[in-house]
Amino acid sequence: MRILGIESSCDETAAAVVEDGSKILSSVVASQLAHGKYGGVVPELASREHLRAIVPVVRLAMQQAQAGFDDLSAVAVTQGPGLVGSLLVGMTFAKSICFARGLPLIGVNHIEGHIHAVALETPGAVEYPALALVVSGGHTHLFEVREGCSYRLLGKTRDDAAGEAYDKVAKLLGFGYPGGPIVDQLALHGNPKAVKFTLARMKGNAVDFSFSGLKTAVLRWVEQENMRGEIEARRKMQAPSKEDWLRATPQRTLDLLASFQYTVIEELLRRAAVSAEEIGARSFIISGGVASNSGLRAAAAARFNCPVYLPGRGLSTDNAAMIAAAAFPKLRSGDFDDFGLKASANLTLA
Ligand code: KG4
Ligand code: ZN
Repeated sequence: MRILGIESSCDETAAAVVEDGSKILSSVVASQLAHGKYGGVVPELASREHLRAIVPVVRLAMQQAQAGFDDLSAVAVTQGPGLVGSLLVGMTFAKSICFARGLPLIGVNHIEGHIHAVALETPGAVEYPALALVVSGGHTHLFEVREGCSYRLLGKTRDDAAGEAYDKVAKLLGFGYPGGPIVDQLALHGNPKAVKFTLARMKGNAVDFSFSGLKTAVLRWVEQENMRGEIEARRKMQAPSKEDWLRATPQRTLDLLASFQYTVIEELLRRAAVSAEEIGARSFIISGGVASNSGLRAAAAARFNCPVYLPGRGLSTDNAAMIAAAAFPKLRSGDFDDFGLKASANLTLA
């Protein structure tokens, strides 16, 4: 059974063909570069870029899979959460294919897609109950996952998502957007214990997260250190390589980045460890863009008693193979949507 997945919830236009829920026949991701100079995603720009990219991206995914529309069993599309103008492009395109070809339509929650990304590499391996940490530019959520795709929300961020904290700190320091990958690489060259940031203390649900205090602490540190010159110099750099960034970043800033990253990872994994204990987790899934983080990957593998599943790097960030994977159980149980399916910016999973 082959599913064409379509994902357009934020600033990636993606299409993929996945066979039987785990075999990736193709996965095409077009990342929008237009947002870089604004230091974040501009919603109106994003929908226009999706409009430009959607036809070539889907065509390429079909070509690479060597499939025609008649070879498909269904079309799966991200229903939400995300930017509504961006979601609408994928949704309308998916509906059009289904209408023209008489194919079933399956709406998928983007967060559920992230959780299913691990099924693409290790089908059938996850044991339940599982703990899932979905950590991206838009989400920092902990779920209990039970067999049969049932989810219970355990904790979530009360302010910024972890990826958003990376992006904002990177922007403040004059690095480009998205900030996560470059901060991750530069943090490897710094001392994670150099700057002592305190972890957020949560009233009420102890496994909720908060990153705004950390972000403010970084801002205070930057003000104290009088870093304006080096930040301005970095802002002016044109298409820098990792080596260029390294040359333009003194040791005190590398130490700051390493300390920031260390604190984010502690914030994530301490609360995940409490939740894992509470639900008796037999597997721990970490997914979403921040799951590509090298520090998080290393720390998680060393710290948990149960097996830890992290999607390969290309499958942690937004892609359409995860959307097709999440749709597979729905296809098997005949759980289809009609053309009244609506894109929903605030769709929740549990
Ligand atoms: O899942 P994703 O592609 O899109 C959303 O659903 O948000 O995640 C993108 C986020 C961005 O905030 C980006 O800075 C962050 O993931 N990210 C990382 C890394 N790679 C991407 N954060 C930390 N370390 C990384 N290596
Ligand atoms: Zn995502």
